[in-house]
Amino acid sequence: MLSKGTKVSVKVETLVLFGATGDLAQRMLFPSLYNLHLDGLLAGELTIIGSGRSKRDRSAFQGQVREALAEHLPADRIEEAGVENFLERIDYCAIDAGAGTGYEELAALLGDRLGRPIGVYLSTPPSMFGPIAQGLRAANIACAECRIAMEKPIGHDLASSRDVNAQVGDAFAEDRVFRIDHYLGKETVQNLLALRFANMLFEPLWNAQAIDHVQITVAETVGLEGRVSYYDGVGALKDMVQNHMLQLLAIIAMEPPSSVSSTAVRDEKVKLLRSLRRMTAEDVKAHSVKGQYTSGAVNGGAVAGYADELGDPSNTETFVALKAYIDNWRWKGVPFYLRTGKRMPQRKSEVLIQFKPVPHNIFARVGAGKLNANSMIINLQPEENIRVKVMAKQPGLDREGVKLKEVTMDVSLSHSFAGERRRIAYERLLLDFIEGDQTLFVRRDEVEAQWQWIDSIRDAWGQVDMAPQNYTAGSWGPSSAIALIERDGASWHD
Ligand code: BG6
Repeated sequence: MLSKGTKVSVKVETLVLFGATGDLAQRMLFPSLYNLHLDGLLAGELTIIGSGRSKRDRSAFQGQVREALAEHLPADRIEEAGVENFLERIDYCAIDAGAGTGYEELAALLGDRLGRPIGVYLSTPPSMFGPIAQGLRAANIACAECRIAMEKPIGHDLASSRDVNAQVGDAFAEDRVFRIDHYLGKETVQNLLALRFANMLFEPLWNAQAIDHVQITVAETVGLEGRVSYYDGVGALKDMVQNHMLQLLAIIAMEPPSSVSSTAVRDEKVKLLRSLRRMTAEDVKAHSVKGQYTSGAVNGGAVAGYADELGDPSNTETFVALKAYIDNWRWKGVPFYLRTGKRMPQRKSEVLIQFKPVPHNIFARVGAGKLNANSMIINLQPEENIRVKVMAKQPGLDREGVKLKEVTMDVSLSHSFAGERRRIAYERLLLDFIEGDQTLFVRRDEVEAQWQWIDSIRDAWGQVDMAPQNYTAGSWGPSSAIALIERDGASWHD
């Protein structure tokens, strides 16, 4: 729905995928590209060059992609002729980005395509972003029409993200840099914009006058999933809050952009991110909770604790809950409670908007009792629905007083749009990248504003020496996370 924002340039003719033998490429990127191919959305001349450190020939790599498609796509999407045509687009070039070798071979393989629009997609360890951008520039592969996409994280704090951005910026202008946050590719996240700005119903109430607080939950049932080397030392704050949750927060809380152009939307998001109140040592004691899961049960199966999976004790948090404030007119005094964790009882991402109670209860004298304040629950995944809780009168003659009851207005998006195939977030992001639309990508100033706030929390955690508290796998986090919100008279929507 967002699309057709500002296009920076023509479509890329060649996609060079670094990290092409890695997990993300196999699970998401090739299946997404294949889906686009099958739907006729990729131009005939688009060539995809996979790149990894190991040497292998074109047909061996095509075989690997074929297996990845079979493994990660539903059987009804696999069409033999479609797969064959798709594989025809694919080539391979070994590049050792760490050693800085292989760029000349890539340039040779590109041949006539050199100097024409090339999209370079980095699905590599983040420490490689700067060196690859430099390597491409040195080999004249970073032409004016060329662009680069990068997975998260961009750096590990503000200073290092500035370094990465500067190194990449030396080779590619900002309007050629596409920073990926795959949450922005999710249909339901884009739908938040439609909900807020394509309806009159909500926006007049979307402020501190009518809203008591907001909750954002991103709960996962998975644990480390073999990502030990990446995750330990990173933790939930940097892995989930710095990017996905702050993007959600920005979309929920930003001022209305004047259009869905990439500049208009991203200007509003960055303003919002800069309004987040930084946390001090005093703040983190009262407004943050870190947790780490111990052994327990998830989805009916026993699971090991984080330290056991790791094989060592660790201070890394697998859960974080925060109470955040946005210092601007619209949100004065409204707490935003954020929580995310691994090994939670269920996978769910949702936003809860808790409205204030009505100013005066006209039903009090006729025995109707307490009126529940309205709330709106926006489920982003796995269910896609919006529920609004409102008070209604129970039918009857009311001889013994009026009876009111909370009822739910339920809009199921998967039901309303039943015939439409749900696309992988990366389909949207890859297509926008190929076509040059930056709206759903994170701008440099956004990523830096995100780090600025996260650094304030990490610095404050360091000052008070905050260690994660244990929670049993399969629970909603440490009990102090419950206290964090209940102290304010509210409770998490579980
Ligand atoms: C990634 C994180 O960015 O997002 C993972 O690194 C996390 O730790 C994943 O599991 C969650 O994504 P999704 O799309 O499954 O909600």
